[in-house]
Amino acid sequence: MRFEMGTSPLLEIKDLHVHFDVYGGTLRVLDGVNFTVHSGQKVGLVGETGCGKTTTMKSILRILPMPPARIPRGEIYFKGQDVLKMGEGELRQVRSEGISMIFQDPTAALNPVFTIGQQLGAVVKYSMEGKKLSKKEIRERAIIPLKEVALPDPERMLDSYPIQLSGGMRQRVCIAMALVASRELLIADEPGTSLDVTIEDQILRLLHRLVEEKNVSVILITHTLGVVRETTDRVYVMYAGNMVEMAATEELFAQPLHPYTRGLMDAVPRLTGGGIADGIPGRIPDYLNPPPGCRFHPRCPRAMEICRQEKPSFYGKRSGVSDNHEVACFLYRDSE
Ligand SMILES: Nc1ncnc2c1ncn2[C@@H]1O[C@H](COP(=O)(O)OP(=O)(O)O)[C@@H](O)[C@H]1O
Ligand code: SF4
Ligand SMILES: [Mg+2]
Repeated sequence: MRFEMGTSPLLEIKDLHVHFDVYGGTLRVLDGVNFTVHSGQKVGLVGETGCGKTTTMKSILRILPMPPARIPRGEIYFKGQDVLKMGEGELRQVRSEGISMIFQDPTAALNPVFTIGQQLGAVVKYSMEGKKLSKKEIRERAIIPLKEVALPDPERMLDSYPIQLSGGMRQRVCIAMALVASRELLIADEPGTSLDVTIEDQILRLLHRLVEEKNVSVILITHTLGVVRETTDRVYVMYAGNMVEMAATEELFAQPLHPYTRGLMDAVPRLTGGGIADGIPGRIPDYLNPPPGCRFHPRCPRAMEICRQEKPSFYGKRSGVSDNHEVACFLYRDSE
């Protein structure tokens, strides 16, 4: 870990609530999310499909469709400034210089009617903040990230259309674009999940190598817990719109505390699809009527009466449990 304690975080999300107004009512998805990334840190974010991971990340970049989305409460500080209060100009600067995001589906992120060179060139131009470059210079700069992501024949790649490339190549192109655009924080939201497992693994490892070289901060969302364990410093576990546990990666894997985290660990290797295979029965709740109290209580093997009535706050900071380890569960209430 390279961040210094005491310095202000690169990213700090406080008490974030996101609702979706849909036919039939309001989906109360994010329910007070707190999340912090320090400069240089690699943070893993895990949780089943539908827990609100992508919604949290899209909120940071303000790319949630509004409506149906709404943010009734919360703050998102990037380098000390609340993204939710920014005007278009400041926001554009955050997107071009501060944060970039790689999405799960590599096809959706690329425009089919432009060549890779045109699209990468646009990102290169955008990242130059108005500094004029000749066509030749743009091309030269666009080739560099393609080489970095180990794409064969980058010259030819620049003149290809997305459809001419395989899914794995397209994902590499997306990583190349994110590397050009990002200077400080890279959000990788399940990169490669839509691809073959071995290609996904290659993509995740490539990403890790590149971010290590460039020393950017990373938020990695993946269901591949082995990769989280190997490549991140800190892990957040999310369930049904709440962060439920956070700890240094080593600590979390050595001593998972939250019943949900324990279920996830038992469900390795893949968390996609319905429910947690072999872990905990049941599904993510209906966000139209989320359960009161701890949202996990209908599935929790350790649920108590209080869990049905009150929402647990975070415990652990001042307990025998290690300093960095926090868990939102009444089982640890007395450890403070
Ligand atoms: N555009 C949308 N309209 C309505 N509901 C949405 C929309 N996007 C997300 N949601 C709701 O938010 C929930 C969480 O989704 P998401 O953030 O994509 O989860 P994850 O990334 O953890 O799989 C979904 O189950 C859905 O109920
Ligand atoms: S607060 Fe209660 S229901 Fe929630 S995880 Fe802990 S024991 Fe289970
Ligand atoms: Mg997602």
